[in-house]
Amino acid sequence: NGGLVVFPTETVYGLGADATSSEAARKIYSAKGRPSDNPLIIHISSPGEAEIYTETSPLYYKLAERFMPGPLTVIMKAKPTVPFATRGGLSTVAVRCPENPIANALIKKAAVAIAAPSANLSGSPSPTSASHAISDMMGRVDMIIDGGACEIGIESTIVKIEDDGSLTLLRPGKITVEELLTVADVVSIAGAVTDKLKSGERALSPGMKYRHYAPRCELVLIDGDRQGIADYVLSQGKKRLALIAYDEDIAFFEAKYPELKIMSFGPATDETEQAKRLFSLLRECDGLELDLILAPLPTPKGMGLALYNRMIHAAAHQIIKCDGEING
Ligand code: TXA
Ligand code: MG
Repeated sequence: NGGLVVFPTETVYGLGADATSSEAARKIYSAKGRPSDNPLIIHISSPGEAEIYTETSPLYYKLAERFMPGPLTVIMKAKPTVPFATRGGLSTVAVRCPENPIANALIKKAAVAIAAPSANLSGSPSPTSASHAISDMMGRVDMIIDGGACEIGIESTIVKIEDDGSLTLLRPGKITVEELLTVADVVSIAGAVTDKLKSGERALSPGMKYRHYAPRCELVLIDGDRQGIADYVLSQGKKRLALIAYDEDIAFFEAKYPELKIMSFGPATDETEQAKRLFSLLRECDGLELDLILAPLPTPKGMGLALYNRMIHAAAHQIIKCDGEING
């Protein structure tokens, strides 16, 4: 009925409303404090519903067969059923069919696609639990559905189907480039996934140009081993800092700095666990009186590419090599 509902998905909580209503889209932008040129993903309950809203192609159905329902968003040419307000004025629209049963049931009951960005206030980390969503959205929406913690913890992989039948990766997620290549012959990675946009450069995905997932205090990523990280901690003197560390390294840091606030990022090789924890850790840091958060720079491979992408954005590209050189 044009109202706003926060609902769980397997990736992060969404802030949903009727995808066919311009008025509903405007309410979403206003509740989030989001610029209205940043388009919304429309959520469907089965892959075939994409026909109502977009010009599909055989590649879409190949992707759907392999990855839907699930954490994949596909961008295609929009049909007029999706108002310009929902798609941020673009000629394309992003479609996703979530796997979470509550999300699926909600879309079915609504009997219309649900437009939904992540249910965070613009600029803060995406909510991965109902309590995150409540702290950002209570009082701004008509309903919040508590579905517990999100299984994946980072937002969906976004790909665009290009006119020549290739795919462009606009946002990495749980579904990796390697997996996409089992379905598409060519997957190119948009520059903004790993690099800073040069001034004047246009982001393919409007959301990429905004500062993202940002904790309230400074976040710096360390490109180095645990000794490099330890040296950097020492160089920060009296700053109030927290260190996000791989489980294998925690005892090492605790022995060196018994006073240091250390947060577990999960095992070094378990990117699935790290993804689940990332946004929650950043929010937890917001609750502490800190000057600086330090975290290891992930390796941008497999699902590590998604962690890398979220973390360089959250850190506003402040990456320090363990020799102390700043690349930013
Ligand atoms: O996992 C997810 O995708 C979550 C859950 C709720 O489904 N949603 C989500 O939405 O992350 P949002 O709005 O926070 O991020 C969507 C991103 C934005 O960066 C937006 O600019 C981009 O997708 N996007 C949406 N439609 C697009 C389009 N037609 N062309 C290019 N980029 C688009
Ligand atoms: Mg978002």
